Amino acid sequence: MEKLKIIGGNKLSGSISCSGAKNAALPMLAATILSDKAITFKNLPYLQDITTMFEILGSMGADISLNENMDFTISTSNLHDFEARYELVKTMRASILVLGSLVARHGFARIALPGGCAIGTRPVDFHLDALEKLGAKIELKNGYIEASSKKLRGCEITFPGVSVTGTENIMMAAVLASGKTYIKNAAKEPEIIDLANCLRLMGARIDGDGTSNIVIEGVNKLAGCNYDVLPDRIETATFLVAAAITRGKLTLTHTRPDTIKVIIDKLKKAGANISIKNDIINIAVKSKLDAVNITTNPYPDFPTDMQAQFIALNSISKGKSKVVESVFENRFMHVQELVRMGANIDINGNTAIINGVKDLTGAPVMATDLRASASLILAGLVAKGETIVDRIYHIDRGYECIEEKLTKIGANIKRLPQ
Ligand code: EPZ
Repeated sequence: MEKLKIIGGNKLSGSISCSGAKNAALPMLAATILSDKAITFKNLPYLQDITTMFEILGSMGADISLNENMDFTISTSNLHDFEARYELVKTMRASILVLGSLVARHGFARIALPGGCAIGTRPVDFHLDALEKLGAKIELKNGYIEASSKKLRGCEITFPGVSVTGTENIMMAAVLASGKTYIKNAAKEPEIIDLANCLRLMGARIDGDGTSNIVIEGVNKLAGCNYDVLPDRIETATFLVAAAITRGKLTLTHTRPDTIKVIIDKLKKAGANISIKNDIINIAVKSKLDAVNITTNPYPDFPTDMQAQFIALNSISKGKSKVVESVFENRFMHVQELVRMGANIDINGNTAIINGVKDLTGAPVMATDLRASASLILAGLVAKGETIVDRIYHIDRGYECIEEKLTKIGANIKRLPQ
């Protein structure tokens, strides 16, 4: 397996252009199933998860092409198969996102049940119960979900808990259903709004996206469109933490500062100097920051996808801090690896208590999930000596060319061959 070798101690400085959002692109790629017209995306990030979604669409018969500007055009007018196979779904849970579109447009879907993953059991009961309410017949057979419906019918759906992909799946199912669908307790993430914007460009009738209550009036047919994917707020926030942890000075371009207000406020509270101008964020950190308390919750609160990165930052900041993980039940897998680098962290249930230490020391560590791997890289950037991060296929799922981007701003980081 490939590894990353990091020699810590360099202060990062320079400018980085942020990529398109993985978690906005994945539902939009699934939404191409809803129309028999081609859809072209600008700013799709070059990530393993995007490639996996291409493989799923391609296995169904979608036509995927790339132009000289790296814009991808997807046409699903000739699908011959409505299945997402286990071999692909086991590598990416977000494969479940094709379920709503397939049933809405083709009346049938056979999707491998996503298993659990490192951060939790992550069931899909909210998705299935809501789809059943829209009139789909759902059967679980041999580890697969089989969903069928002649025509979905709009209705009122209240999610028992906030679910990002659950909300997205039902939005995509509802846009071609007959009548109106009212989604209550919907997720409010910026990626939900981006999906709604893309669906509206295709001709869907959607209101309330970005709030807890989304109203969708079904239409008979959707058109194609050209869409520019939202900048990735988690990648942007991760690079802000990279500047903070190394006490460097960075300019981030092609960002959406409004989508990471809570992160920017936390970093300012810790003592970072941050300024914003349109889609550009400047950060400068001259001395050790103060540790900050974090509680993760659905948007617009502090995102669970930034919890691991802030635990790494708190580990090397001044003072004691508390981090509460309220979204997933097992998202502290990075903590023991950080402790092996000298961090002082105690876990009690879904709460981590961190006592900032003077220095971290480099060590061989193992990535367990996408954001855990980001936190280990951040720790390696500031640790004394050499850190080897193993199982970095996790990082390639969600960060475009991470070592190239970090090298460009002064990090000493290399990818070691298998
Ligand atoms: C999305 O996952 C993101 N993935 C995750 O990002 C992110 O961490 C998560 O939302 C929370 O923000 C994509 O958008 C592709 P949920 P999702 O459904 O939709 C429980 C990353 O790092 N739940 O909002 O799968 C679930 O177990 C990834 O990019 C049910 O119980 O998350 C969790 O505790 C990691 N039943 C909570 O709800 C369901 O049917 C929130 O999950 C669905 C969810």
